[in-house]
Amino acid sequence: MRIAMIGSGYVGLVSGACFADFGHVVTCVDRDEGRIAALRRGESPIFEPGLPELVEANVRQNRLFFTTELAASVRGADAVFIAVGTPSRRGDGHADLSYVYGAAREIAAALEGFTVVVTKSTVPVGTGDEVERIIREARPEADFAVVSNPEFLREGAAISDFKRPDRIVVGADDPRAREVMDEIYRPLYLNQSPVLFTSRRTSELTKYAANAFLATKITFINEIADLCEKLGADVQEVARGIGLDNRIGGKFLHAGPGYGGSCFPKDTLALIKTAQDAGAPVRIVETVAASNEARKRRMADKILDACGGSVTGKTIAVLGLAFKPNTDDMRDAPSLAIVPALQSLGAKVRAFDPESMEQARPMLPGVEFCQDAYSCVEGAHAIAILTEWDAFRALDLDRIRAALAQPVVVDLRNIYRPQDMRRRGFQYVSVGRE
Ligand code: UGA
Repeated sequence: MRIAMIGSGYVGLVSGACFADFGHVVTCVDRDEGRIAALRRGESPIFEPGLPELVEANVRQNRLFFTTELAASVRGADAVFIAVGTPSRRGDGHADLSYVYGAAREIAAALEGFTVVVTKSTVPVGTGDEVERIIREARPEADFAVVSNPEFLREGAAISDFKRPDRIVVGADDPRAREVMDEIYRPLYLNQSPVLFTSRRTSELTKYAANAFLATKITFINEIADLCEKLGADVQEVARGIGLDNRIGGKFLHAGPGYGGSCFPKDTLALIKTAQDAGAPVRIVETVAASNEARKRRMADKILDACGGSVTGKTIAVLGLAFKPNTDDMRDAPSLAIVPALQSLGAKVRAFDPESMEQARPMLPGVEFCQDAYSCVEGAHAIAILTEWDAFRALDLDRIRAALAQPVVVDLRNIYRPQDMRRRGFQYVSVGRE
């Protein structure tokens, strides 16, 4: 199949490279000339394990191309995927669809022969209808079908999520479009990944419902963690105890500083707005979003308490800034709420993150960025672990202990065992554990 991927951001680039790896011929399009030039030089604009190798191999096989020319890539394509950004609209939290609709207009002008136009961006229910209307209005004679095919990959595990998905959801009302989508995902049938064919609107809502449910699971365990702290119980054991029930499932029950990233905060908000407008408010999701926001801010108080009620003039060493490990993405990271709150309480903040410091620097003024974890903790009055990078699990703790001015560790990701840390002489505080 010939595929045009409009938008070479996270989802577009990973999907494009994986489709090429399935044997399709893929052209990734982006307006950003610098980004396309970098990709042509073999440089990856994002940090994602395995992506540079996958891109390189498929470019070498002449299956993956990069261009700024949308029209040329759309002409002759069997399927055109729209994978542009859908940020939160300023002011009201609705998804901003201007990039999606802009892409639809440009695609319309270039369509040739039967083409399936697929929205892969996370878009509210009804967006497919509007994309169809835009194209039909511009090109009444064009032969096309609009399909919804949301993406469920996670950053940091994007390639394995794409190639071994729990499921593929395709919202297609046109039988010819179903055939094309079937062919595109055929390599995954061999892995027996379930493909759910459904209506376009159902598919669009499924994406939001999935992210909102996962955000709810995380928020639920975070609130149980707070309760564990009050009652002297252990949240990790509660999570295991409930997660072993197949109806609940053990994943996404890891208590922490609150969810962040480019998806959960934005998508929960968009779902809340859609549901309010439709007159069927999702009260649970409203509570989840509010609870998560409050939690991120409250984490600074937890660090304050661990420091004996004052951080004025003290140095806090922050380990981990990205919203999760194996990414350099800082979007809505809990660190963006916690670090400024510590600074406003009078603390000096030093920080180290293995990948995200370049992104973080302009977002966190006044922070001293360090070369590595050891230089970061030197002379600090407390360590705050905000991201569970593997590198932080393997630190030489005796060296860390000796470098600190005060042996306080606030572990917001529960990467250490309380008894081990106490035995080593740390004053150790974690989430939802004694
Ligand atoms: C999320 C979904 O997991 C993907 O399925 C979806 O495709 C993607 O959004 C999207 O809509 O594009 P992602 O944002 O990359 O993926 O990251 P997650 O691994 O889901 O983590 C999100 C946040 O939840 C992170 O801040 C993470 O630290 C937090 N989290 C996750 C927890 O605090 N506890 C957990 O148990 C799991």
